[in-house]
Amino acid sequence: MVVEMSNQIPEEVIEEIRKTNDVVDVVGEYVQLKKQGRNFFGLCPFHGEKTPSFSVTQDKQIFHCFGCGKGGNVITFMMEIEGFSFFEALKTLAERSGVDLPISSDNQKSSFSKENQDVLSAYEWLTKLYHHLIKHSKEGRDGYQYFKERGITDETIDTFKLGFAPNVQDFTAKFLEKKGFHKQLLAKAGIVSMWEDQRVVDRFRGRVIFPIRNHLGKTIAFGGRTITEDGPKYLNSSESELFQKGKLLYNFDLAKRHIRQKNEVILFEGYMDVISSYQAGIKNGVATLGTALTEMQARLLKRYVETVIVCYDADDAGVEAAYKAATLLQEIGCDVKVANVKEGLDPDSYIKKYGADDFNNKVIQASETFIGFLMRYKKRDYNLGLEGDRIKYVEQMIKELSIIDSQIEREYYLKELSNEFNLSMSTLENELNQHLKNKKTYKDKGFKDRYTSSRTVKYSQTNQLRPAFHNAERNLIAYMLNNRSITDKVREKIGASFNIDDHKIIATHLYAYYEAGHAEDVSLFIEKLTEEKLKHLVTEIAMIPISDEISEKEINDYLRIINSETNENEKIKLLKEQQKVAEQQNDPQKAAEIALQIIDIQKHSKQLN
Ligand code: GTP
Ligand code: MN
Repeated sequence: MVVEMSNQIPEEVIEEIRKTNDVVDVVGEYVQLKKQGRNFFGLCPFHGEKTPSFSVTQDKQIFHCFGCGKGGNVITFMMEIEGFSFFEALKTLAERSGVDLPISSDNQKSSFSKENQDVLSAYEWLTKLYHHLIKHSKEGRDGYQYFKERGITDETIDTFKLGFAPNVQDFTAKFLEKKGFHKQLLAKAGIVSMWEDQRVVDRFRGRVIFPIRNHLGKTIAFGGRTITEDGPKYLNSSESELFQKGKLLYNFDLAKRHIRQKNEVILFEGYMDVISSYQAGIKNGVATLGTALTEMQARLLKRYVETVIVCYDADDAGVEAAYKAATLLQEIGCDVKVANVKEGLDPDSYIKKYGADDFNNKVIQASETFIGFLMRYKKRDYNLGLEGDRIKYVEQMIKELSIIDSQIEREYYLKELSNEFNLSMSTLENELNQHLKNKKTYKDKGFKDRYTSSRTVKYSQTNQLRPAFHNAERNLIAYMLNNRSITDKVREKIGASFNIDDHKIIATHLYAYYEAGHAEDVSLFIEKLTEEKLKHLVTEIAMIPISDEISEKEINDYLRIINSETNENEKIKLLKEQQKVAEQQNDPQKAAEIALQIIDIQKHSKQLN
């Protein structure tokens, strides 16, 4: 039953990769983890939740979510979170920890289609070409000049692999065709435009190029900006399977490390804002790609950080967009701040005008809380010279304040309202309390059920509702995963005679696993299982807290409970057969007697449980 996951890659290499990539570190790059006792906890990246039911253990090198049931080791994690094939997960982890991975063509099974692999490869070539041209060629000089005038250094040009597409109709197309790429493919990917007569024309010709990288650092699209102010300011690659604006954030790959370090991310509107602030030393910035922030992007950020600073342009459109983005982020549970870039500037031009320090101290560090921003923003909807509008405004603000959890923060803004509108604190407090009361009842109904208690309910429920024999089997397997000699004993006593089918299968795998000479290592054991369902179940069981020492008596108790269930199951099976025979022989009296016997046994087993 034990199937090797990979026929090509030597087992020692897989082992090495698994051992050199600590599951806590790798998961920690995606999920904000907090240590609690022996385990780390965080919000599950695989399903939406507000209270953490996702846990990672360092000693066992596995993760498991009590909410959605997903679980596995570091390789499984990469497969699940990135949608990778087994090989891609290995490759990424090998690169991460510097292990050499022998590559043969048949183990390179990719989760990308052949076509997408070609597109990725075309983008890789072009990124290098355009970058080379901007730095070293006559054709790229205009582009280089453009960035210089905007204050971009050579180092930044390198970091972001900025480039220039020569102003020649078919330069790119020719270059790529020579490399063996088909023009149909290039046109489909939006790298070149194809005219009706099948002629291809470089889409980005004469533009400076901003490679758009996915979060693994692979270029999947270009943004091309005009340097002559002709035509649209930016041209982007068209959307495709690989490039979906709503799922992606510009610069996320480079910013990730800094985002985690600071537990804070800055959300910008434009590529140039990200690049300028990065150059100014503020490296935890990302940007949307010319569209409004989507829920998907907001959730992506939420997975990594608590605090999001929205730093949009200071013009009307920017403030409007900032309001929308901030509201969305607030709703999904981020701690939101809004930076106030003054004088109608955008972050990039602000930095150019006032310098990096000023931008950091007076804009980023001085960001307002969400509610502070809201109080300023909402004023635009009212004519505060009118009594009626003033009241409406204050009422709306108090309603907004009631959503804030921190009492100190509520007080602070209440005082502000009190001062500004010359209203007594007690009046405002009364009004606020009214809202807080309503909120409580609201919370007590649906809200709490859905979020706060969902996990505890689910976890304890599943535990309590299981019959005793089921829990006995789970506990026993938990010990077996942890201890070979217990496994030997169980094998000798009951073999694979567990009552739950999945437990039977796990036990059989486990016997084979130890037999093959492997040591106790849940993470490795999972590696040997092919069925996802079993992996999840094994990690779930492995998370059951067990003591380091187990007494002979405890094991025997588990075995006894399991055995008696087995015996009873067998008795019932036998009786049911006899009952059938009695019915066939037209002996209702006897059939009824047997039925009673069955009920008796079932009752007894319930009592025992
Ligand atoms: P600069 O003018 O070079 O400083 O641009 P920026 O980075 O400040 O961008 P801006 O604030 O003007 O726009 C924000 C983002 O919207 C850009 O980074 C692009 O992603 C996108 N965008 C702007 N103009 C266009 C356009 O004409 N077409 C498309 N498709 N996207 C655009
Ligand atoms: Mn700009």
